[in-house]
Amino acid sequence: MAINKLKIAPSQFAIPDGLESFPMPLLVYHGPSHTLWANPEFEKLFGKAPVTRFEIKPAISLVRERKLDLGVISSPGRHEGLLLEGLDGEKIPVELRVSPLQGGSGDAFLAVVEDVQVKQNLEQQLIRNHVELNQAFQELHRTQTALTQSAKLASLGELSSGIAHELNQPLQAILGFSQELVEFEKLSPTGTEFAHDIIHAAKKMAEIIKSLRSFAREAGNETTETSIEHAMREAARLMSHSFAQKGIRLEIEVAPQIPLTLANPIQLEQVFVNLMSNARDAIEASHPGRGLIRVGITAPAGAIEVRVSDDGCGMNAEIRNRIFDPFYTTKEVGKGTGLGLSISYGILKRLGATIEVQSEPGHGTEFKLTFRPLGITQEGEVA
Ligand SMILES: Nc1ncnc2c1ncn2[C@@H]1O[C@H](COP(=O)(O)OP(=O)(O)OP(=O)(O)O)[C@@H](O)[C@H]1O
Ligand SMILES: [Mg+2]
Repeated sequence: MAINKLKIAPSQFAIPDGLESFPMPLLVYHGPSHTLWANPEFEKLFGKAPVTRFEIKPAISLVRERKLDLGVISSPGRHEGLLLEGLDGEKIPVELRVSPLQGGSGDAFLAVVEDVQVKQNLEQQLIRNHVELNQAFQELHRTQTALTQSAKLASLGELSSGIAHELNQPLQAILGFSQELVEFEKLSPTGTEFAHDIIHAAKKMAEIIKSLRSFAREAGNETTETSIEHAMREAARLMSHSFAQKGIRLEIEVAPQIPLTLANPIQLEQVFVNLMSNARDAIEASHPGRGLIRVGITAPAGAIEVRVSDDGCGMNAEIRNRIFDPFYTTKEVGKGTGLGLSISYGILKRLGATIEVQSEPGHGTEFKLTFRPLGITQEGEVA
C-alpha cells in the first residue's frame, strides 16, 4: 500500500499546502487518525518500499532491523542514529527533526528527514585528517627537537672552539710558570703547596679545554672500518680500575657476527667511556659499593645495536629531556662538566648513528645506540 493512500479524508486531517513541494524529505504524522504521509522528495530518496510496510500500529518498521516508534515522530526535537532503507535497499543513516505542525490541532507532527551519510563521511574524513595531522605534528616536533639539538651543538661548537683557543694560551703560561715556581728554592712550604694546587687546577682546566676542542671537532675526525666490540672492550679496560674500586660488575654480551661500522675508533671509545662513567656515577648515587652495568651488542637486520644499562638512580622526565644539552649536569660542581652526553651525541650524529634513552627514577637507565653496519664482520667475513 502506498503511503499516499494512508492519507485520511481531508475532513479529518489535511496536509498543509506547500509540504508537497518542500525540497527536503518530510514525514507528517497525525496521531488520532494514525496517518503517516510522505512527500515526493522522501519517496525520491527512500522509495515506496518502506512505506508499503507501514502499518497503522504503535510501532512501524522503516527498515527491517529498526523499529521506528511512532512515538519518535510525535515527540518534538532532534532524533539521531536512525536508519532508513534507500531505493536500492541500502541503509541510509538519517536524523529526524520533529516539530508540531504549525496551525494544526496540536496532534500532528512534521518530521524533516536529513540524510546524514554525507555528514558522517565528512566527520570520518575529518577524524582521519585529525589523526594524520597529529602524526605529522609529532614528527615535526621530533625533527624540531633534533634540529634544536644540532643547532645548539653547532653554535656551541664554534663558540667553544674560540674560547678553548683563547684560554689555552694563558693557561699554558700559568702551567709553565707554576711548574717553575714549584722548583723555586726560596718558596716557603705553604707557597710550594699552593703552587701544586695551581698546577692541579690548571691541568683540570686543560682537560676541560681538551673536551671542548673535541666537542668543536678539532680532534681527529677520520673514520675507518671499526669494530664496535673492540672499542667497547677498550673503554671497559679504561674503566675497569674505577669499577673495581666501586664494587661495580660489568657484563658484556656480544652476539656472533657483528658487522664493522664506519667510525673513528677513539671517538667511539670516548662515547662508551662517557656512557659507562655516567652509569658508574648513577650507581654511586643510589647504592654505593655495589652495582651492575650490562653491555649488549647485537646485529638485527640492517643495524648494529648497543645497549648500555645500569641499575643506578635513573632519571625523571625533566632530567631525561635535557641530558644531551651541552653543560647540563646534575652532578656537584667540579664533578661533571655536563659535556659527556652532548659530545657523544655529536659524535654519533656525524656517524649517522642514533642514541635513545629509557630511564625511570629508581629503575636504572638504558641507552640504546644504533649504528649503520658495513657489509663485513670483524672476522673479515661477509656480514
Ligand atoms: N646512566 C645514567 N643514569 C642517571 N643519570 C644519568 C645517566 N647518564 C646521564 N645522566 C644524567 O645526565 C646528565 C648529563 O650527563 P653528561 O654525561 O652529559 O654530563 P655529566 O656526566 O654530568 O658530566 P661529564 O660527563 O662532563 O663528566 C648527568 O649529570 C646525569 O644527571
Ligand atoms: Mg658524563
